[in-house]
Amino acid sequence: MEIVEAIESRRSVGRVKRDEIPKELVEQILRSAIHAPNHKITEPWRFHVFTGRGRGELARARAEMARQMAEAEGEDEELVAGRISRERKKAFRAPVVIAVISKAGRDEVETVENYAACCAAVQNMQLTAHSLGLGCMWRTGPVAYHKHMRNFFNLEDDDSIVAYLYIGYPDAPETRRRRQPVEQMTTWHEG
Ligand SMILES: Cc1cc2nc3c(=O)[nH]c(=O)nc-3n(C[C@H](O)[C@H](O)[C@H](O)COP(=O)(O)O)c2cc1C
Repeated sequence: MEIVEAIESRRSVGRVKRDEIPKELVEQILRSAIHAPNHKITEPWRFHVFTGRGRGELARARAEMARQMAEAEGEDEELVAGRISRERKKAFRAPVVIAVISKAGRDEVETVENYAACCAAVQNMQLTAHSLGLGCMWRTGPVAYHKHMRNFFNLEDDDSIVAYLYIGYPDAPETRRRRQPVEQMTTWHEG
């Protein structure tokens, strides 16, 4: 697939099949991540790959996060079990879930730029997945920011969870791309 075609035809795919993905394809997606540009070659990315029953670890962490959130919000007891169960199930939305972590830099600017590099890495992964006929979805939400999840991944203070990439074979019709024309976003400074 040509790169421009891949960029323009990629869509976030929320619904994927349960079919397993060959490990070689997951490895190829991971390899493409580390080709992303990164300032001072800090290689800030770390990956946690959850597949098969391994997703259970993520599910348990999510469930505990949901319990803590419900407790902090003083949610009614009869609603708490449902909330925990819904959160737990999210770990099984796709056959492969990759958490992408960005390591802190030596100063504030390096930390921001490490995060930027990891975002580029995630997009490399999405494009590679797309070119392999796979669908994926970059997700964040509380699971990317809650203290319990940070502890689960043993993060240090300025490390970040950049993305959970849910990957599988697409099981939904392609969605329409919603974007304003680039002309509307661009100021040209010409000689
Ligand atoms: C930083 C970031 C976080 C995202 N988090 C979520 C999310 O939590 N849930 C979700 O449904 N989509 C999430 N997305 C995906 C966007 O919803 C998606 O890219 C957008 O709808 C545009 O669709 P497209 O990727 O098909 O162009 C996230 C995307 C980015 C860049």
